[in-house]
Amino acid sequence: MSSRILVLYGSYRRDRMGIRLANFLVAQLAERGHDVELIDAQAVGLPILDRMYKEYPKGEAPEALETLAGKIVAADAFVFVTGEYNWGMQPGLKNLTDHFLEEWFWRPAAIASYSAGRLSGVRSGLVWHGTLSEMGMVVISSSLSVGPIAATLDASAQPTGDAGAALEKSFGRFAADLEWWTDAAKAQKAKVQPPY
Ligand SMILES: Cc1cc2nc3c(=O)[nH]c(=O)nc-3n(C[C@H](O)[C@H](O)[C@H](O)COP(=O)(O)O)c2cc1C
Repeated sequence: MSSRILVLYGSYRRDRMGIRLANFLVAQLAERGHDVELIDAQAVGLPILDRMYKEYPKGEAPEALETLAGKIVAADAFVFVTGEYNWGMQPGLKNLTDHFLEEWFWRPAAIASYSAGRLSGVRSGLVWHGTLSEMGMVVISSSLSVGPIAATLDASAQPTGDAGAALEKSFGRFAADLEWWTDAAKAQKAKVQPPY
């Protein structure tokens, strides 16, 4: 079943590498028949959190926030591309997610972490898991861990070498896991409205 999936990425660095993984995931999920959109926090350009979306009177939120809220509410699933800064999250992506709360509820989320080294940003993935749960998403069990990112995907987001082949191999299970939970959430919503 085709789903509407947002791939979220949040590095603001001019020489950023994680965009390769974000672009890879967008292309691969689209190839599986999904309607996929990259949400690039840098391009969205929200300020450091002042008011959450829901704290604005209806119709008065800034346009970027209003547009993004609509996309989040309309999505069936989310993929978070999580880089690691000093064993933690990238602030750009955290800032974007914190602008919303109820808009995220009742959908599955998947985590694809990466880093410059072989540990593949797994510590940021671990932190994101708890945060996404707190924000009302059900985090699927499969994750992707990509590192070293530069040895895995080239600048056009094409897999390279052994690391690229390993990513391609693990992507199938990751996507199938996300699809199963996405379809399950859609079917349940068609039967019963979420309780809150
Ligand atoms: C401020 C900063 C902190 C970093 N800390 C870590 C770290 O804790 N663990 C790690 O594996 N890589 C770390 N790195 C290296 C990143 O994995 C690498 O720069 C990666 O490409 C960052 O993602 P981006 O290019 O999409 O911004 C750090 C990089 C920066 C800029």
